[in-house]
Amino acid sequence: DNMHDHMNMNMNMNNKQPQKLLSTSALPKGHDLPKFQLLKNSSHQSGIFEATIEAKPVKIALTPDITTEFWAYNNSIPGPLIEVYEGDKVKLTVKNRLSQSTTVHWHGLLVPSNQDGNPQDEIPAGSERIYEFTIPEGSAGTYWYHPHGHNTVAEQIARGLAGVFIVRSKKDPLESLPELNWFFSDLKLTDKGEIADNSMTDWMNGREGQFVLINGGYRPKMKVNTATRVRVWNACSGRYLNLSIPGCDVFLVGSDGGLMPEPISLEKPLLLSPAERAELVILPKQTGTVYLQSIGYDRGKMGNVPPEQDIILAELELQQANSIVLPSPLRTLPKIGEAKAHKTLEYTEVMDKSEPRGGMLFLINGKRHDMKRIDLESKIHDVEEWTIFNNSHMDHNFHIHGTQFTIVSHEFDGKKYPPEYVALKDTINLRPHEKITIKIQQNMPGLRMYHCHIVEHETLGMMGQLMVKD
Ligand code: C2O
Ligand code: CU
Ligand code: CU
Repeated sequence: DNMHDHMNMNMNMNNKQPQKLLSTSALPKGHDLPKFQLLKNSSHQSGIFEATIEAKPVKIALTPDITTEFWAYNNSIPGPLIEVYEGDKVKLTVKNRLSQSTTVHWHGLLVPSNQDGNPQDEIPAGSERIYEFTIPEGSAGTYWYHPHGHNTVAEQIARGLAGVFIVRSKKDPLESLPELNWFFSDLKLTDKGEIADNSMTDWMNGREGQFVLINGGYRPKMKVNTATRVRVWNACSGRYLNLSIPGCDVFLVGSDGGLMPEPISLEKPLLLSPAERAELVILPKQTGTVYLQSIGYDRGKMGNVPPEQDIILAELELQQANSIVLPSPLRTLPKIGEAKAHKTLEYTEVMDKSEPRGGMLFLINGKRHDMKRIDLESKIHDVEEWTIFNNSHMDHNFHIHGTQFTIVSHEFDGKKYPPEYVALKDTINLRPHEKITIKIQQNMPGLRMYHCHIVEHETLGMMGQLMVKD
């Protein structure tokens, strides 16, 4: 197709000498699944969580010969697990020991706009700030945190800044199940073991490294010998995960905003675009070793890139287990009423040779992100319907801060389809030419960002600003 030919030409014209990448055989695989570092609560009062997080460079020896300088939260890849309960008051001091400014955004959580790490609220290099918020009732779920500075998100995430956040409920219907956590991130290393720069095609399609990490470990192994709850994060910059878990019955029980009303038995791989999360219950149906894989998923990448391959992510040692009965319903979602307003967003991509990074611009309603421009306004508590139209050649996703939404419909070629399942979402993928309508409500005033969560696209401008009026 024309657009693709044009892209290839453009790429060759701008060709910089590509960096040599480390061979995937250079990192050992098959170590035990790493456990998260836990962020220690320094408060002794019940209902209060207080801690300090430091963002700074750290050298980590991946092998005796390969030492890589990451940018990390508290020296840990991924950043330490913040584990709190609904109703907790959270007070986090963030120290910026990087050479550039940063913010911390609490992805998926309902926090006041001025505590949510907007690009307007940067922490300059060498200084610190306190983030304070209360975890709302009903928000138990699987979240994460990452930088959200101006123009720096793609680089800071690529260098390792992303951490784990879990909100627990005192009434958890799945409490009795053992838990596994799979926090997926992506690592691209040069043959010298340095974090590689983005190539032209990384900027175009979203960065993908040669290593997919789970909890910071490469192709780890783990045992599954009973029905197990698995929390899954796609914290990759641009990689889509299309998870296949052979030898197991797999039930989808939760999404970005916590448990779903009903468990769904999954008959095909689980697609998670960047920033999406899921909760699964997996039940081994056989005994022996199987491979957790991401099945190649064609998302319309541009430029000279090979077609998507199946990749092995981890080794599971299964032991056949007895079936269990999942509680149903798992959760009742609050009813939010009829929409009072309708908004439409259109995603486009255009070629622009003056953009040195990928030769492309990624736009929402024809515009690039501008920190000083308010693109949309909503009234606090008003229920709205937003239709997002991906009028482009590749998959993009849509993420918005400060709330969780539900899907009303998907639309292709004028034909509407109901959502595949009912869930609270803060990030949803759109195929090329797909239209998705969501029902959304903002319950706190202030500025909120919305964007494609392929962080290269976000950094190149595929982001807008919503002002929620009191
Ligand atoms: Cu996960 Cu605006 O971000
Ligand atoms: Cu977010
Ligand atoms: Cu995108």
